Amino acid sequence: MFTTRELQDEILRLKKENDICILAHAYQSQDILEVADYVGDSYGLSLEAAKAPQSTILMCGVRFMAETVKLLSPDKKTILSHPQAGCPMAEQIDLEMLRAMKEQYPDYTVVAYINTTSELKARCDVCVTSSSAVKIVKNIENKNILFIPDCNLGAWVAEQVPEKNIKLVHGGCPTHAKMTVRDVEAAKKLHPAAELLVHPECVPEVAKLADYIGSTTGIMDYARNSSASEFIIGTENSIVQHLQFECPDKRFYPLSKGCVCMNMKLTTLGEVYNCVRGIGGEEIVLSGEVMTKARKCIDMMLKLG
Ligand code: 13P
Ligand code: SF4
Repeated sequence: MFTTRELQDEILRLKKENDICILAHAYQSQDILEVADYVGDSYGLSLEAAKAPQSTILMCGVRFMAETVKLLSPDKKTILSHPQAGCPMAEQIDLEMLRAMKEQYPDYTVVAYINTTSELKARCDVCVTSSSAVKIVKNIENKNILFIPDCNLGAWVAEQVPEKNIKLVHGGCPTHAKMTVRDVEAAKKLHPAAELLVHPECVPEVAKLADYIGSTTGIMDYARNSSASEFIIGTENSIVQHLQFECPDKRFYPLSKGCVCMNMKLTTLGEVYNCVRGIGGEEIVLSGEVMTKARKCIDMMLKLG
């Protein structure tokens, strides 16, 4: 039996021996972040995926993130840290629904949040992440935008890019949608001096009350650099733990106890250990057609972002 520290040392040894790069989304647990080569938000992970020199990339996160890695590094072996780690939002729109929407809005540019399947991306014009969406939508030539599937992120973008005509669909993150105005009122009553930092996947009523709205990396950077000493965090609760760990002189409170992504939590340090010794996770395999077409959507994101 290993202690956490011993298991981490084994993972570090094996990843080097087996030429593996470990990418971890910021919603992973602290013990996993400590063995990762890179930790970040969805946009940062996409940039790192294209740059990693190792022959294998282990993505500690959810399936669409591992698929993005594969699209950006087609010649590399890409492993998703847990086969069941999906994102419910990524499954909300299927190909048939998208086909019907495109028929209804034929002259619209289809903007897909990166939290979508590769099959769907293959039929969209450009991808965005929470940290790049505003800039990319501003840079699209067409005035008419169909934004899928997160209506909360889409509404936040629409507010900042009023010159565009943005159609939204009814979709979003069930984890972030759990946070309510009531939660904000209760948290502010308990911590009146705290700043409220939220993710744009939150419902607009909650986002409207925030001092800062941004991606996971954006929230972490804001809290690190702010002169305030207390923060209410409106995103997945692992960010509360990471910030408290990194900034012990500041205080961080979850906006809601319920903001826990069970899919992100499926990956444990033990799973990471199994992956680096070749008996865990799932290798991502995508068809040639999906690889070519979905890659265009991601490349457009990198170009416009
Ligand atoms: P970012 O990593 O872009 O902040 O998105 C958060 C999220 O919910 C990822 O699934
Ligand atoms: Fe998907 Fe929400 Fe979990 Fe992110 S936090 S992986 S958007 S369910």
